[in-house]
Amino acid sequence: MAVEHAGCFEMEEKMARKKIIAGNWKMNKTPSEAVALVEELKDLVKNDEVAVVYCVPAIDIVPVVEAVKGTNVEVGAENMYFEESGAYTGEISAAMLVDAGVKYVILGHSERRDYFKEDDCLLNKKVKKAFEAGLTPILCCGESLEQRELGVTMDWIRLQIKSDLSGITADQVKAMVIAYEPIWAIGTGKTATADQAQEVCKGIRDCIAEMYDAATADAVRIQYGGSMNAGNAAELLSKPDIDGGLIGGASLKPDFGKIVNA
Ligand code: 13P
Repeated sequence: MAVEHAGCFEMEEKMARKKIIAGNWKMNKTPSEAVALVEELKDLVKNDEVAVVYCVPAIDIVPVVEAVKGTNVEVGAENMYFEESGAYTGEISAAMLVDAGVKYVILGHSERRDYFKEDDCLLNKKVKKAFEAGLTPILCCGESLEQRELGVTMDWIRLQIKSDLSGITADQVKAMVIAYEPIWAIGTGKTATADQAQEVCKGIRDCIAEMYDAATADAVRIQYGGSMNAGNAAELLSKPDIDGGLIGGASLKPDFGKIVNA
């Protein structure tokens, strides 16, 4: 009986968290191709019960913000810099994103950590700046295959979360999104099983509960990302601690609509 009750409670909490399905377009789509994709997906992604976000290359932001006007889609950036303004050639500030109509920003994607050497100290500054500017961070974390095989997945992810959220308040955490993306599952076609993904997403929620409190852990939305597609989305999204998906490859295709409606 007690177990049944706990299960009900879990489901209620989950329902209180609005699901968020975000596409991470990565370095794909020129501005004109981006507008065409928004048009192609427009009717397929209609669903008011889910937050739908397109995180697009910087140069696509302005035309995509324009193209999604009047739809249920919001726009995110794939990265930003933490400084206010100044001599940072090639970088884009949080204020620029906000002014352009951006609502979300992906921070700490493994591709940025790996190829562009972004570390947790830098990411902590970016998370702080995003909140200061009024953007919702989608903070990514995840282990490599080697770390999974060594059995240090949760130790590694807890370190990432604790470092990246240092100095971030409970109210801020309640409003943000954390994306669990096992590096070995990104772009490989190798998805974590729904149970593997659930185990880590629950571990992240437990970590938030320890750092803050139960209410904060219950409110934060945790996505899974890594080869999510129209075929596996429903099972992943049915898990109690998985509140959405961060989708790469499949976000560039009509399949994205199937994931939104999974
Ligand atoms: P794929 O869906 O292509 O595996 O990419 C996942 C990802 O990195 C989303 O941020």
